[in-house]
Amino acid sequence: MKYTTLSTLASFSGLASALTPAQWRTQSIYQVMTDRFARTDGSTSASCDVNNYCGGTYQGLINKLAYIQNMGFTAIWISPIVENIPQSTADGSAYHGYWAQNIYNVNTNFGAASDLVALSNALHNRGMYLMVDIVTNHFAQANTRANFNASAVGAPFNNVSMYHTPCDIDYNNQTSIEQCWQGDNIVALADVRTEDSNVQALWNSWIPQLVSNYTIDGLRIDSAKHVTPSSLSALQSAANGMHVLGEVYSGDPSYLCPYQSTITGLMNYPAYFWITQAFKSTSGNMTTLATGINTLKSTCKDVTLLGSFLENHDNPRFPALTSDQSLIRNAVSFALLQDGIPILYQGQEQKLYGGSVPYNREALWSTAYSTSSSATLYPFITTLNKIRAWAIKKDAAYITYNAWPIYTDTSTIIMRKGNANAQVVSVFTNRGASAKTATLTLGATNSGFVKYQSVMDVVACKSFTTDSKGNLGVTITSGLPQVFYPTSALKRSGICNQ
Ligand SMILES: *[C@@H]1O[C@H](CO)[C@@H](O)[C@H](O)[C@H]1NC(C)=O
Ligand SMILES: *[C@@H]1O[C@H](CO)[C@@H](O)[C@H](O)[C@H]1NC(C)=O
Ligand SMILES: *[C@@H]1O[C@H](CO)[C@@H](O)[C@H](O)[C@H]1NC(C)=O
Ligand SMILES: *[C@@H]1O[C@H](CO)[C@@H](O)[C@H](O)[C@H]1NC(C)=O
Ligand SMILES: *[C@@H]1O[C@H](CO)[C@@H](O)[C@H](O)[C@H]1NC(C)=O
Repeated sequence: MKYTTLSTLASFSGLASALTPAQWRTQSIYQVMTDRFARTDGSTSASCDVNNYCGGTYQGLINKLAYIQNMGFTAIWISPIVENIPQSTADGSAYHGYWAQNIYNVNTNFGAASDLVALSNALHNRGMYLMVDIVTNHFAQANTRANFNASAVGAPFNNVSMYHTPCDIDYNNQTSIEQCWQGDNIVALADVRTEDSNVQALWNSWIPQLVSNYTIDGLRIDSAKHVTPSSLSALQSAANGMHVLGEVYSGDPSYLCPYQSTITGLMNYPAYFWITQAFKSTSGNMTTLATGINTLKSTCKDVTLLGSFLENHDNPRFPALTSDQSLIRNAVSFALLQDGIPILYQGQEQKLYGGSVPYNREALWSTAYSTSSSATLYPFITTLNKIRAWAIKKDAAYITYNAWPIYTDTSTIIMRKGNANAQVVSVFTNRGASAKTATLTLGATNSGFVKYQSVMDVVACKSFTTDSKGNLGVTITSGLPQVFYPTSALKRSGICNQ
């Protein structure tokens, strides 16, 4: 069993092992939708009605942590843990965890509070970390908005004075985004007055308790653009130096980035949109991706603290947009290797292809957790996590080095991250699996490679040598991505038998 110094320290001292932003930066996160990951009995035959509870539990998850850790992930982000509304409605049931009813009870569909503690312990014993999703923006009720009954919400949020009056969100009006209600007249999502100091005080006393009761290492905050920036700042203070990743659903850096002065991290939605458009077809625009990455770097306080993802539970899975296996590999690897903390949504490794909500929330057990190299992306993702972890180990500056596009053409983007002799140089293309072989020359000035240097494409385990000027001849075959790293720096990594 592997222990990091930090977790060893935490387990000996019995202190919460909450991780700072700098400590989260080097992690790699696997996003678990608790209800859909694994059942307690480990059965893989049970069917799943995607609108209702399907039976995933904390115990089921504990039993399958090796599946996650062996893929190279060092942390998991789980669904919100608190008690949700029990009803099965025309909008489905609260299997996803975002319909809170009482923040001082756990959602027993996933197990008891002691099972959640057991999960946290099991993770820490493996040297892994726990990120928990929290929803401070709203409470749910199976009711119309007009009939929402605040008294029925669990204390202390059982007072109508804590909620805005119902209205439909006008997404062109920030006040409306913060004050009007999400949800509908089947499941009302009563919008909390997060700008009020008495409300902030309630969250601020709850957060440290939650973190301490379950030994949580990081938080993800749902619907962050729907709460006030002042409440995000208050929440960050209550989280006491812990990294908080906020969901600000926006593709616009000038809208997203200012939130990084309230909480330390954000989901990188702008890059999600740029990557998706670049690789979902052979006509994607590489300039948009390259320009976007540079704009984000100059707009956000620190892009290396953002959460980088290609899929999540709110958007169609990437293979719902294309079945081209090379395009899929390019998109997956771009998101895992770009700046920030990679987040892989459960099932990406299995190439699940569900479209919009709830079809993108398939039960993972239907795949029998295969690790096959022909049928899944499991070995591919393992390799990507390995090279990232190794690059960090070889040069601590790797993780804060801002990646930049060193070459683009209409169907190629080459990214460099890292200082000379410890740099990952990745070639991504949207040519597609049926493309003819293509070649290009990558100049030494940008790649940082030197003359007659041996570099390894760690995906294919093929080595190449630069020319007398340090230029690298790159051959793109079947539209596959390539990830180059100096061969000499791979020594004793175990990667490609080095
Ligand atoms: C509102 O909820 C409270 C607490 O559950 C309950 O006593 C009361 O009857 C409810 N009011 C209405 C109008 O349903
Ligand atoms: C609800 O909040 C208001 C304003 O803070 C307060 O005056 C009132 O007593 C509260 N009601 C209950 C039932 O706690
Ligand atoms: C923006 O939304 C708020 C809250 O609903 C509303 O009071 C205000 O009038 C809106 N402003 C405009 C310009 O529509
Ligand atoms: C944390 O545990 C204490 C002691 O069991 C309990 O009183 C408190 O309600 C718990 N808080 C949360 C947020 O779980
Ligand atoms: C790609 O996008 C850029 C702006 O990001 C635009 O200027 C360019 O015309 C687009 N290229 C194509 C081929 O559509």
